[in-house]
Amino acid sequence: MTIVLPVKAKANTQLLADRVAFVTAAGSGIGRAGAIALAQCGAHVVVTDLDGKLAAEVAAEIVSEGHKATSKQLDVTDDDALKIAIDNTITRFGRLDILHSHAGIQIEGTLEQVSPEGMDASWALNVRSHFMAARAVVGQMKKQGGGSIIITSSNSGVQFDREMIAYATTKHAVVAMTRQMATDYAKHNIRFNTLCPGFVDTPFNAGFEVQMGGRPALEDYIKQNIPMGRWATVDEISDAIVFLASDMSSFMTGHALVVDGGECI
Ligand SMILES: NC(=O)c1ccc[n+]([C@@H]2O[C@H](COP(=O)([O-])OP(=O)(O)OC[C@H]3O[C@@H](n4cnc5c(N)ncnc54)[C@H](O)[C@@H]3O)[C@@H](O)[C@H]2O)c1
Repeated sequence: MTIVLPVKAKANTQLLADRVAFVTAAGSGIGRAGAIALAQCGAHVVVTDLDGKLAAEVAAEIVSEGHKATSKQLDVTDDDALKIAIDNTITRFGRLDILHSHAGIQIEGTLEQVSPEGMDASWALNVRSHFMAARAVVGQMKKQGGGSIIITSSNSGVQFDREMIAYATTKHAVVAMTRQMATDYAKHNIRFNTLCPGFVDTPFNAGFEVQMGGRPALEDYIKQNIPMGRWATVDEISDAIVFLASDMSSFMTGHALVVDGGECI
């Protein structure tokens, strides 16, 4: 099969002009690509990550391209730090239009292989941190007349994997939570959607690679199991982030947007 990768379209620099975006886990992979894409569309992006150095590098890259960004070291499992970072963003800019709550963890294994601590850590990052982040922004979004909240799930939030009890369970739970929040806040024009990527070639898949028995086995798995026969590029996922963040999806809420090359068909 010949693999043809898409050419990224030029960004519409006015699409998100004057909007403020707050992105978690934006120092690498999908979060990084999304933060850059939001900034290229005109938003001021607050780039946060557990690794403050990575967050600062992404913000510097955005600014060096002539766009707007600031950075902050942030562990999303630290409730107080998360709330303070969001409150400070609102105080500084007087608004917050887009939250992309992206951080997540994948702990592989079956019921007998995943420890209770692994299950708790999955819940803390894949569900609870999104609850806390959304909780911190909705008050301001209500005041300003709306906003877009994007929560990263996975296509593992709409289908079941093998030997992934902690990941699949929490990723399904966050889709459910997002749909509930969407119904509760639609009247305030606050949209909640989940982003559900399939395989994207980032450091996130290191554990799964080991579980598969190494890189060649993983590449073979991708070729055999993804109908489009390849990984997603981070740009293909950041296009979906821009879509959900912007008025291009203005009548869409409670949706689980699957971008997975057909894997979960
Ligand atoms: N890459 C994929 O194939 C894929 C597929 C589906 C869903 N996802 C989801 O995307 C998210 C991350 O994937 P990625 O590909 O961008 O990963 P990545 O490994 O490229 O980046 C993850 C980032 O998260 C940061 N991080 C880790 N713990 C954190 C914490 N407690 N607080 C704040 N930041 C933290 C890391 O420092 C790192 O910069 C997860 O929610 C994951 O479930 C990824």
